[in-house]
Amino acid sequence: MDKEIILITGSSGQLGTVLAEKLQKKYGVENIIATDLRENPTFNGVFDTLDVTDFEAIEATVLKYKITQIYHLAAILSANGEKHPLSTWDINMKTLFNVLEVSRIHKISKVFFPSSIAVFGNNIERSNTPQSSNLTPSTVYGISKAAGENWGKYYFDKYDLDVRSLRYPGVIGYQSLPGGGTTDYAVDIFHKAVKNEDFECFLSSETMLPMIYMDDAIRATLELMEAPKEKITVRTSYNISGLSFTPNQLASSIKEKYSSLKINYKPDFRQEIASSWPMSIDDTQARKDWDWKPKFNIKTLTETMLKNLELKYNNNLINS
Ligand code: SER
Repeated sequence: MDKEIILITGSSGQLGTVLAEKLQKKYGVENIIATDLRENPTFNGVFDTLDVTDFEAIEATVLKYKITQIYHLAAILSANGEKHPLSTWDINMKTLFNVLEVSRIHKISKVFFPSSIAVFGNNIERSNTPQSSNLTPSTVYGISKAAGENWGKYYFDKYDLDVRSLRYPGVIGYQSLPGGGTTDYAVDIFHKAVKNEDFECFLSSETMLPMIYMDDAIRATLELMEAPKEKITVRTSYNISGLSFTPNQLASSIKEKYSSLKINYKPDFRQEIASSWPMSIDDTQARKDWDWKPKFNIKTLTETMLKNLELKYNNNLINS
């Protein structure tokens, strides 16, 4: 196998933080080029600041490090995106076009583009939402992901650029915090529980959403990226499923250990977004094509989150 040199955009984000470390372990620390808009002084490894809306800047990075693969994680998420719809569209699409174009021009071997359950909107089957559902996203973030999936397929069809993509459910991990999404409550609640603070939930207690534990999300990403090219039959983006739960079910699971956790339900504008999303996902195609199978259920997810956050807070490794 030729040596891979991998560029990650948005590497300081929720997924990027964990993915960068996993890729460093796999490909060697010096071969992972982590980038983000702002400096990341705590990052261990090669890090450059990079504004992906600037084509010359990303091209210079690709040439400087002789990049062979790109994981393009930088984006504005669903809830934050609604505050500035037009600039969210501009940023999410401009960055994607820059990544696709630089990859086409400089013959990047593989590109990863994260899509999301946000591509689905009202008028879908909300239980076991099929891979081939009509995409009628309810947020500008979802619209940018739905368009992005199709652009990935276009570059594959037209230029044979090997773009691969997953529709992530809400990602839950202890290592990093999500920023501005509709599923963020499911990370925040763990931090509040461990700190013995009350939790105010911005979704109603019965809002069922698809979620995935971080380890499963990262493993899915690497399994997809490592699958033989001929196994990839979906060139827009794969549905993947982890588990589904409501805030009430998650709270009950946490309360098995933190029985005094108090939750106040105060749905805000994010409720409408969540209500338009699937409750669960049909990921048959991912299972068939590259043997996808999640490992974490609500019990193991809760236990792992609590154990690791307790360690972090007790050792003062996290800011409160
Ligand atoms: N977790 C994301 C969000 O809530 C979904 O992709 O925006």
